[in-house]
Amino acid sequence: MKPQDILSGKNSLWIFGYGSLVWKPDFKYKRSKIGYITGYKRRFWHGDNFHRGDDEMLGRVVTLIEDDDVCTWGVAFEVIGAQMEECLKYLNVREAVRGGYVTKVVEFFPRGQEESPVLALVYIATPDNPIYLGPATAEEIAAQIIVCKGKSGHNIEYLLRLAEFMRTTCPDVEDTHLFSIEAAAVALLPMLLGP
Ligand code: SIN
Repeated sequence: MKPQDILSGKNSLWIFGYGSLVWKPDFKYKRSKIGYITGYKRRFWHGDNFHRGDDEMLGRVVTLIEDDDVCTWGVAFEVIGAQMEECLKYLNVREAVRGGYVTKVVEFFPRGQEESPVLALVYIATPDNPIYLGPATAEEIAAQIIVCKGKSGHNIEYLLRLAEFMRTTCPDVEDTHLFSIEAAAVALLPMLLGP
């Protein structure tokens, strides 16, 4: 399904966040649900020259990489009526223009067995984006994150807040990629701060 089809004739739209949106949506919404999407893994493989880095030192932020065997947890926000246009305008600037993300439609599964899945819009950065960085070790990613900052703040804030969200909101979900980068960044911090 194309992103524009999810909107046609609808008075409600779900947006799935798996990065900074989980702790800083910054748009009006009716309600939110914790849950997951399948077929994608979350990776710190996208570069950022606006929010958490700049052209000289690209920050590292998350994107989704196709992988049949895994799911990615996050938050889906339901926007209704006039909120829809307002939110899409805002996210177009924040995620597409400044972040280099494109939109896709995914099936979102809310936590809790009684809840039915819904279609949701998600922002993804693909490898053909000029500031896509791709894989690196947890230590390499952490070393990059601890020194970068952009107009929305320090890159490490982005990492720590996402890790905190997963630890407190989805305590049973394993996220080795995220938590190994967090551990590597915390281990490197004393070096940055000096004696
Ligand atoms: C984003 O939503 O991708 C960027 C916002 C932020 O880093 O705070």
